[in-house]
Amino acid sequence: MKEKLLLEKSYHLYRKSLEIVPGGSLGVRRPTFYIGEEYPLFLKSGNGGRVLDVDGNEYVDLICGYGPLILGHREKEIDDAVCEKLKTHGYCFALTHEMQLELAQKLTEIIPCAEMCLFAKTGSDVTTTAIRIARHVTKRNKVLRCGYHGWHEWCVTGKGGIPKKAYEDILPFPYGDLNLLEDLLKEHGDDTAAIIITPVEHELNRPVKDPEPGYLEGVKELADKHGALLIFDEIRTGFRYHIGGAQRWFGVTPQLAAFGKGLANGFAISALVGAKEYMQAAADAVYISATYYSDGLAQLAALKTIEILERENVPQALREKGNRFAQRVEALIKKSAVPCLYSGSPFMPYFTFHSGDESKDRRMRDVFFTSLIRNRILIGPNHHGYIAHRHTAEDLKAVLDAIEEALADVSTAV
Ligand SMILES: Cc1ncc(COP(=O)(O)O)c(C=O)c1O
Repeated sequence: MKEKLLLEKSYHLYRKSLEIVPGGSLGVRRPTFYIGEEYPLFLKSGNGGRVLDVDGNEYVDLICGYGPLILGHREKEIDDAVCEKLKTHGYCFALTHEMQLELAQKLTEIIPCAEMCLFAKTGSDVTTTAIRIARHVTKRNKVLRCGYHGWHEWCVTGKGGIPKKAYEDILPFPYGDLNLLEDLLKEHGDDTAAIIITPVEHELNRPVKDPEPGYLEGVKELADKHGALLIFDEIRTGFRYHIGGAQRWFGVTPQLAAFGKGLANGFAISALVGAKEYMQAAADAVYISATYYSDGLAQLAALKTIEILERENVPQALREKGNRFAQRVEALIKKSAVPCLYSGSPFMPYFTFHSGDESKDRRMRDVFFTSLIRNRILIGPNHHGYIAHRHTAEDLKAVLDAIEEALADVSTAV
């Protein structure tokens, strides 16, 4: 195993932050989400597929902002367009930027379910908007949910500070089992407003899995049968599976869909899109507005991002690059005989360990990810990574070499 990285400044900043920022930082940026004091906590800059931490360590970045960076850091064409607009036009207006119309038109052209679009900032904003619209139009209360949909009261995992009534009508169901979903609907179908699901299974700490053939079609059929709206949470799959989202790739069209990460290569914007008959509710009865939702710069970044995604056929390029990478990773795993499972759509790679003994799996995981980070590969142990369009062959070669070493370290240590 390589030597531990020098992370003095990261942990100095972290300890200082603990005094004035609860937990030092928010959610998945805390050391508890990584391994001991092995991971950097503060980053300074990024370029293409790499990032530099505050201690001067450079990494191949497979976290990619937890998803927004579909192209890579500092994508010149996007950044130049945004900087130019900022300098020549200003930014924060009370009213709407004209780019909103252009962006909405673009999304309606490329996303199957998109007849209308509204824009917000975060994924949580638009999954929550979708639920609100569904409850309004169906006049029903219950929501069946599968996957991570953000931090708002109805769906957040930690329940501190949330009254039970905020989520008592929210019923989780496991991915992949139509019978269990049907059982839930038999009991609650009359009062179910919506089924919200990530089209691909990508829960924390679990292998990433595409749907079995017929699964998404089955979910849609059940939703239709019980008069519930089907909502796809495409925050991670959007623009990666296909320019038109996982719904286009798998050929199943929901009534509403939430998009965010990947839409603007890191600029904060999300979109709820869907059929006019439902989306129209947000024109009057369902109130959606926030000071920063009319963000023209993020809309411009989104337009530029989509232009590049289409021009360079990025979703297909990501798939091909990811498939080549996956083949090499699988060969390394096979050679090592470590019970490591490489899962994920080719551009959402993840490693889990399955020896049949949970504590051994945890130790293997810790050794594996410690070895990777010491080899300057930034990917979290609990969350799948992302391959970005600007990851070069050299970046991915560095990752493969590090994986080979990490598997050898696991073999030696566990
Ligand atoms: C599938 C999915 N839905 C919703 C969200 C919430 O998005 P945000 O963190 O931008 O609120 C996330 C964030 O990771 C996500 O992965």
